[in-house]
Amino acid sequence: MRIIKSPQEMQQTALELKRCGKTIGFVPTMGFLHEGHLSLMNIARPDCDVLVVSIFVNPTQFGPNEDLDAYPRDFERDEQLCEAAGADIVFYPEPDTMYFEDASVWVDEEKLSVGLCGGSRPGHFRGVCTVVAKLFNLVQTDLAVFGEKDAQQLRVIERMVRDLNIPVNIIRGPIVREPDGLAMSSRNKYLNTEQRQQALCLKQSLDQVASLLRQGEAIVANLKQQMVVLIGTVPGAQIEYIEFVDDETLAQVDRVESRTLLALAVRIGPTRLIDNAVLHP
Ligand code: PAJ
Repeated sequence: MRIIKSPQEMQQTALELKRCGKTIGFVPTMGFLHEGHLSLMNIARPDCDVLVVSIFVNPTQFGPNEDLDAYPRDFERDEQLCEAAGADIVFYPEPDTMYFEDASVWVDEEKLSVGLCGGSRPGHFRGVCTVVAKLFNLVQTDLAVFGEKDAQQLRVIERMVRDLNIPVNIIRGPIVREPDGLAMSSRNKYLNTEQRQQALCLKQSLDQVASLLRQGEAIVANLKQQMVVLIGTVPGAQIEYIEFVDDETLAQVDRVESRTLLALAVRIGPTRLIDNAVLHP
């Protein structure tokens, strides 16, 4: 497995591979890898000749008061995990090599990125779209796998690829969870023992909705109310948003219809966690 740090070297290597007729698969990450990331590599691996994983804590997708500096990092461990997962190249650029100081071109998605996480994290998806577009150009990838854990991000990237005619096949990877249901996330590292327990309320509230749906309750106001009650019993849990939206347009819905996306963001102490489920009434 090769580690490439320079963006120019990454692009030259990728162009050379393409000239030799190789197909490239890509999993972009911010590192501190867990089973969720590894599952995406497992999905990509059989579908490409060369598997590239990027590890880059992208500064432009963090707001001024967010956790850019605190974001967990462990490159040595990540490197080993990538190797074990069958990656051929780890692209690990230094932050100051990815952006020009006077960079003035950005990729802005204007519809799907407005609500949900976009509402509470202004500029976040502009940072995500821009870095993903740059990474696609550097890695020259044929396919890229993104996790359903970040449901809005996935839909925004799919829209970017559609609207800008980017020749990359986007593949969705299912959410990987801890045995007790907590969605795996690099940010789970911030949780102490008590908070780790409290964090279960996200998945519990999603399960509660699934169960109410089975009993015939499809009115969003009622379902949301039950979630607020459940999460309200957890000390230290603060709801940032709970939204029931159309899975394609991400517009709010009043009733759970076929393919409604239920997404939520909850703070457990200072740590912001997200989770989601696609509902079928
Ligand atoms: P990061 O949070 O490191 O996630 C990298 C990829 O792993 C994303 O596609 C994310 O959805 C997926 N992922 C994370 N946790 C998962 C889980 N529990 N199950 C399945 N997939 C999971 O998302 C980013 O980085 C960045 O925004 C990035 C796309 C790399 C751009 O900077």
